[in-house]
Amino acid sequence: MEKTILDSNSLLEIDILDKQHLNLINKGNELIQLIKDNSSKEDILLSYESFISLVIEHFQSEEEYFKTIDYEGASQHIEIHEFFVNFLIESKNNYIKSRTDLSVTLIKFLNEWAKNHINSMDLSFAKIYKLQN
Ligand SMILES: [Fe+2]
Ligand SMILES: [Fe+2]
Repeated sequence: MEKTILDSNSLLEIDILDKQHLNLINKGNELIQLIKDNSSKEDILLSYESFISLVIEHFQSEEEYFKTIDYEGASQHIEIHEFFVNFLIESKNNYIKSRTDLSVTLIKFLNEWAKNHINSMDLSFAKIYKLQN
């Protein structure tokens, strides 16, 4: 399985947010490895929960930046963040109920969030942010 990496073209040039992106991608990849190594369900759940917390924290930081500028796309962007959080929480609940493969969920999340969302919505927000700062 190929690891998700952050492309240098995906840098927002907003230091805090870029660091959070990088950290989340690393944590996501580590978690996928933990699952592949057949770790215990308890360990996987603990790491998955802390991963979700970091994702929420990141979205909150990003949304704080939205408020500092005139950003028309804010509400649509926030809706997508909510969609991602719901997806992760739903996957967690499914994992608790039955032994679904959480690595498939994570790979899907990392692909859609790290590859599509950062490269489209985050980057276009960053462009507007930099124009206004
Ligand atoms: Fe975002
Ligand atoms: Fe982001």
